[in-house]
Amino acid sequence: MIKKKTKNILFVDDDKRILYAFKKALEKTEYQMFFADSADNAFLILKNEEIDLAIVDLRMPIVSGYEILESIKNDYPGVFRIALIGFVDEVKILKALSKNLASSYIIKPWSQNDLLGTIDYYFSLYTELKDRNIIEKINSISNLPTIPDIYLKITKAIDEDQDIQKIAELIELDHSISAKVIQIVNSAYFNIKTASISKALIYLGINNIKNIIMSQSIFSSLEDKYAEGLWKHAETTNRIMNLIYKNVLCKTLDEDLQSVGLFHDIGKVVLINDYHNGYFDLCELYFENEDYVLQDLEYEKFGLSHEEVGYYFMKLWGVIEEIPEAALYHHDPFNENVKNKELVSVIHLANHYSKIVLENKVYDHELDMRVFDYLGINQQYFENVLQTAKI
Ligand SMILES: [Fe+2]
Ligand SMILES: [Fe+2]
Repeated sequence: MIKKKTKNILFVDDDKRILYAFKKALEKTEYQMFFADSADNAFLILKNEEIDLAIVDLRMPIVSGYEILESIKNDYPGVFRIALIGFVDEVKILKALSKNLASSYIIKPWSQNDLLGTIDYYFSLYTELKDRNIIEKINSISNLPTIPDIYLKITKAIDEDQDIQKIAELIELDHSISAKVIQIVNSAYFNIKTASISKALIYLGINNIKNIIMSQSIFSSLEDKYAEGLWKHAETTNRIMNLIYKNVLCKTLDEDLQSVGLFHDIGKVVLINDYHNGYFDLCELYFENEDYVLQDLEYEKFGLSHEEVGYYFMKLWGVIEEIPEAALYHHDPFNENVKNKELVSVIHLANHYSKIVLENKVYDHELDMRVFDYLGINQQYFENVLQTAKI
């Protein structure tokens, strides 16, 4: 018996050879494929079939890929959108990503394994969002923080196994990013005194630096008046997280995870970017009524919470899995779906104390006191360490 194919993908490219290559690449999978070599054909298929995922070439004659993606976004918000690009278009893709026209992209030519892996990954993410009933909300966000060109270049250089010197040179080309990396490396926690990017890469590790660049760029997409407080909170949470590992748990936190704290509230940045004052009106409402729960207000107003938004974009932007998990569960560390409970508990604790240290007037959640027991930490002892460390 032939298994019923239920996952529908639409491929749109004016080059029929590319469509054929997709057909060949995926013919043994459970995906049901539809092909369109023009915008008109694409819209006809979208009208008649229940498409889950659309993969659209950005360079199309007459109606461009951007326009096709835009129409899909407006008319079929339940369809997950991926852009198809050539190597030379790598920078152009940023425009499509920042307007949320496409959630991600596939570069031509592709390797068979990469392609299947990528499509499977997007489908599992799509299914998860659909189950949570937030696919349409997420899909219709209009303004996303832009991922800097430098981030894509570094990722590519790492994939190509370039040496540290080459990667350092890439970073140095961007003066404001280099300055930020140096500032963070020299900050109290890392306690490394250097003005050299290549030394920073050696001390902190390439992935750590890559994460710092990404989080910093996301925050700097906000207007200064919003960015400063949020960045301070993220940076302080990250420092407390590292302090807990180093001085309280006396454990070495994996190098790739030393910047997880920077990302925990990234969903707020995305929401502010899209709704501007709308998000602050909501915060005002929250400040005025102590009975309100921030997450409930977020649901009421935007249909999703900052935890979900953060989770989703971190998944899309391909950071290591602990980062989206921490974003999703930082207010709910004992959720049964948490895999890395220790790290999420530490972030939960660090988030709370970051607000105390910075004297923020409101907490967006109660501290779950069970984390002390779970982590085997004495609260008094921890607070003393925090005070001595002068975070
Ligand atoms: Fe939060
Ligand atoms: Fe937070």
